[in-house]
Amino acid sequence: MASRHPFHSICPYFAMFPESFVATQLEQYTEPNDLVYDPFCGRGTTVFESLRQDRHAAGADINSVAACVAGAKTSAPHLASILERIDELEDSYGPTAREAKPPTPFFAKCYEPRTLAEILFLRRRLVWRHDPVDRFVAAVALGILHGESQRSRFTLSNRMPRTISTKPAYSMRWWEEQSLTAPRRRVFDCLRGAALFRFRVEPAERLGIVRQGDARKAAHLFPELVGRVRLVVTSPPYLDTTDFCEDQWLRLWFLGGAPLPRRRTNRDDRIRKKTDYWSFLREVWRGVMPLMANEATIVVRIGGAKFTKEELFTGLTEGLRQVVQGSVQPLHRGVSSAAPAHTDALRRPASKSQVEHDFVYRIRGLQP
Ligand SMILES: C[S@@+](CC[C@H](N)C(=O)[O-])C[C@H]1O[C@@H](n2cnc3c(N)ncnc32)[C@H](O)[C@@H]1O
Repeated sequence: MASRHPFHSICPYFAMFPESFVATQLEQYTEPNDLVYDPFCGRGTTVFESLRQDRHAAGADINSVAACVAGAKTSAPHLASILERIDELEDSYGPTAREAKPPTPFFAKCYEPRTLAEILFLRRRLVWRHDPVDRFVAAVALGILHGESQRSRFTLSNRMPRTISTKPAYSMRWWEEQSLTAPRRRVFDCLRGAALFRFRVEPAERLGIVRQGDARKAAHLFPELVGRVRLVVTSPPYLDTTDFCEDQWLRLWFLGGAPLPRRRTNRDDRIRKKTDYWSFLREVWRGVMPLMANEATIVVRIGGAKFTKEELFTGLTEGLRQVVQGSVQPLHRGVSSAAPAHTDALRRPASKSQVEHDFVYRIRGLQP
């Protein structure tokens, strides 16, 4: 198996699965040049690893952070154009931009004033939704926007976890108690350093397609992929487990969002009732099925403290059988593993230990 590419860790993401998991599925269920799809692509692990293994790949996610990071790494521009763009941004950083005001008191404690002014300038200037070079610069910025700044000279914030953005009041209290202040970082230099670090290994030559959108609308998002997907490797949001928008609020702010955590921006992140959860997943399969080839494989990593393994298997199998017109054959009934604990410096460990299960299905006879 190829060694880990530095793009995989450009920006961490809550509940991400490792690329080794994807690599195993690719080897087992696909041939080179097959098309692989992930309807909940998160930071783009499935898409990027598939491209690296000479498959074609596409993915979607409803969250802007996921769309930016996964899009950046799966359609990366050349390093030279990224560095050129950072130089250009730095050259146009003028005196007016230097006088920026913190959007809220949190920002005044999280970032040193000159660092914050540079971040605010980038936030205004980067057209990450429309320009692949800006999208890559934005993804690098997201990866260094907050984290353990005592450990990394590129991290821009006062001390915070890197995986999730802690809430403003909580962070400010903690910084106060620990007498921590934000470091001065030269943001353009940090961006250059972090970009160079990511390119120390050449990225995949192939480009993937990542679009921001709802898993249930897969066929509308990717009309060009109808009937072509040979393998889905995915991990849906787990029942009542996390709120991706709230946990990523600072990165979402950088991409143009509100300067404070917003709960339930995307309602599917944290579904609390089992019945709602299964009807959501059924709708997802209904949306994804038009993309599937006549004979294809679906691999799902799924967990959630409120479900037993049996319940997950039954729920998934029934959901698929309700929407697939041909046959649904379970191939693999759940290798289980402990979910990674999210025990960053400022966050308590999850109260209940979680287990994840992998289920594999072969579906046949979808197309007439
Ligand atoms: C468990 S994470 C996937 C993580 C991914 N496997 C990785 O390695 O980064 C689930 C993802 O589903 C996304 N999501 C939630 N509801 C969605 C929807 N209706 N359509 C598309 N994506 C959705 C969340 O934004 C989150 O990124």
